[in-house]
Amino acid sequence: MRLSVIGCGYLGAVHAAAMASIGHEVVGIDVDADKVAALSRGEAPFFEPGLPEFLREGVASGRLTFTTDMSAAAGAKVHFVGVGTPQQRDGYAADLTYVNAAIDALLPHLRPGDIVAGKSTVPVGTAAGLAPRVAETGATLVWNPEFLREGFAVKDTIDPDRLVVGLTPGHEEAADVLREVYAPAVAKGTPFIVTDLATAELVKVAANAFLATKISFINAMAEIAEVTGADVTQLADAIGHDVRIGRRFLGAGIGFGGGCLPKDIRAFSARAEELGRGESVAFLRQVDEINLRRRDRAVLLVVEGLGGQVFEKKVAVLGAAFKPYSDDIRDSPALDVAVRLHGLGARVVVTDPEALANAARVHPQLTYEASRDEAIRDADAIVLVTEWDEYRRELSPEHASSLTSGRVVVDGRNGWDAAAWRAAGWRYLGMGRP
Ligand code: UGA
Repeated sequence: MRLSVIGCGYLGAVHAAAMASIGHEVVGIDVDADKVAALSRGEAPFFEPGLPEFLREGVASGRLTFTTDMSAAAGAKVHFVGVGTPQQRDGYAADLTYVNAAIDALLPHLRPGDIVAGKSTVPVGTAAGLAPRVAETGATLVWNPEFLREGFAVKDTIDPDRLVVGLTPGHEEAADVLREVYAPAVAKGTPFIVTDLATAELVKVAANAFLATKISFINAMAEIAEVTGADVTQLADAIGHDVRIGRRFLGAGIGFGGGCLPKDIRAFSARAEELGRGESVAFLRQVDEINLRRRDRAVLLVVEGLGGQVFEKKVAVLGAAFKPYSDDIRDSPALDVAVRLHGLGARVVVTDPEALANAARVHPQLTYEASRDEAIRDADAIVLVTEWDEYRRELSPEHASSLTSGRVVVDGRNGWDAAAWRAAGWRYLGMGRP
């Protein structure tokens, strides 16, 4: 099927490449000429495991093209809209500028029978507002939220755990077209939920709100553990055995970041206020506050570990990305911890396997070091803030001891074996662990 994908960021570029890989003819459209040039050469403009291979294959096959020219959308049967919906500069609400601009630019190229499938995360009610404008062209608007995780984006797109399509009653045929688009996943028996526009929009924000709440729940338990001498990692293991609770997303540490969870819970709060139901999701404010407090806690542990004074002390910060397998630094708790330590006068050296260029662009005041070992060399303290394998699994206390005489580690992700570090002579400080 001929498809267009409008917006070629983390979501759109992966979607375009994934759709080409399952046999569709796809044009990706973006306003950023540099990004389009890179994608056209089969190069991923950001780090995402598996994406470069898919891009190269797609481009080489001739089924995957990229352009800045919106008229290239003409002739596609389904137009996916995957542009960003960042947090507004001066508030919590989502900024819909890019969604509106994408729809405005697309409208002249739509033909009767086309389907516009919104994938961007939007405040509930957005699709209902856009649908009549799309309908005027004879096309149909559906909402098809995306649940991919950065780092696993290709896999999540080709083999999602569910597909959700929201539509306006009377346009059920649009769901059949999307079943055809996602044929391999549908054939595997992937749950395919057809619902109304509002439910589809809400499914997405509810899922992210739940995940954020789960993380902040365990981080709240970490705060209690800290004043009682309990160990939140054992607590998480123990409650996680209850299948109704589940162990995943109970990783206590410096909390969640990225381009989705933080802004999505804020936009949800803002939208609920507009709808007169602010109190229904008032807890999301606390989820946000708990999350941000954990960054303070990590900084405090470094200060404590260094005897109350970090001025001029060298602190090796392991990680800049908001999570491993990503070079994304949007709202990264890892970088935030680094920036705060720098603000206290520490000589902060940040290392990360993939995110240094992005980090340096936004925080040029920090010192960056590509080599993990050079970052650690002669450090007074080491802080683990992004649990890349080369830090969490592959850095042994013995090796760290050979690089520095500093003996303080702060484990912002509870990723290390506390006993092993202590046995090697280190002062180990975890999050919500004695
Ligand atoms: C999240 C959702 O997981 C996806 O389903 C969703 O599609 C995506 O947002 C989106 O809206 O586009 P992502 O932002 O890629 O995906 O990252 P997650 O894997 O959810 O991690 C988010 C943050 O939570 C990271 O900073 C991670 O370090 C943190 N986290 C995760 C914890 O602090 N503890 C945990 O136990 C798990």
